[in-house]
Amino acid sequence: LKKSILNEGYMSFDITSYLKEHATWFEEKVKEKWFDDPETDPSSLYKAMQYSFFSSGKRVRPALCFATAEALGVSRDHVLPIAASLEMIHVFSLIHDDLPAMDDDDLRRGQPTNHKVFGEAVAILAGDALLSEAFMPLLDIDREVFSSDSILEVVRVVMTATGPKGMIGGQVIDLESEGESVPLERLQKLHAYKTGALIRAAVLAVAVLAEAKPETVQSLDRFATGIGLAFQIADDILDVEGGAEIGKDVGSDLEKGKSTYVSHFGLDGAKEERQKAFEEAVKALDSFGEGANALRALGEFIVNRKK
Ligand code: IPE
Ligand code: IPE
Ligand code: MG
Ligand code: MG
Ligand code: MG
Repeated sequence: LKKSILNEGYMSFDITSYLKEHATWFEEKVKEKWFDDPETDPSSLYKAMQYSFFSSGKRVRPALCFATAEALGVSRDHVLPIAASLEMIHVFSLIHDDLPAMDDDDLRRGQPTNHKVFGEAVAILAGDALLSEAFMPLLDIDREVFSSDSILEVVRVVMTATGPKGMIGGQVIDLESEGESVPLERLQKLHAYKTGALIRAAVLAVAVLAEAKPETVQSLDRFATGIGLAFQIADDILDVEGGAEIGKDVGSDLEKGKSTYVSHFGLDGAKEERQKAFEEAVKALDSFGEGANALRALGEFIVNRKK
């Protein structure tokens, strides 16, 4: 990878500490602001929601929100609602993804999947509840700082990324591609929708809230789209060669006959595609200064991650 003087700094960026510090802060704030006491009636539902939300996720989407805010000179407090909303939607997607009707998995974030603990009905409803609660943080975006128009645009970005043209649509394509040898174009769409969309929204929603210039939004969009693809290719690779640290069932894709970058390109080919997507993504940040080092480092973490 060609390094420019400007972006060399990210190579020494301590991404592990960055993720950890932001995750701890994020979890504390979110619990205080947007989650009720788990004993609230009906407590099986409140417990199920928190069981999955507060388990040990990497919090990559929130970290992308914070790093984008940093690149645009916005404080992380101001984008916390976007991070919270997207993580609620992400966790809803994980709970449903693991259900017997979908991937039928037993392990998630190093613990039994939601339906294994709370039963299928409550797991479905806990996912639904997380999706409806995901609107609440967005209503708490500071209206003394940001215009109502840009807040409404944020809602559009987040919910478009969630719905039939985003994660949910991608999950349907994923299920319909099981046991099929789909063309590359279809596979690209599947990855862009099921995983790329929410990752892209983490960056784009912040840029929209900050009312960044169109060229800036475009560059950030190119970065986020590339990183989103690299993220799911990495996930496909880890499903084959991941260790216990991935905290979920290894070999689940092969067992289900999933269409993945590994099934399409083979393991080495998938790794090349992952690297290509990453390089393309980081190039999009060339016009950004050191303020984007956290974003660059996150991109690097996403391709090289072991969990
Ligand atoms: C897993 O996402 C599901 C995909 C979209 C690939 P993550 O790898 O971000 O899962 P957590 O949040 O860290 O558990
Ligand atoms: C998940 O894709 C995409 C989601 C929207 C959750 P996978 O089914 O590959 O995710 P994991 O491997 O179970 O986390
Ligand atoms: Mg799945
Ligand atoms: Mg799955
Ligand atoms: Mg997977």
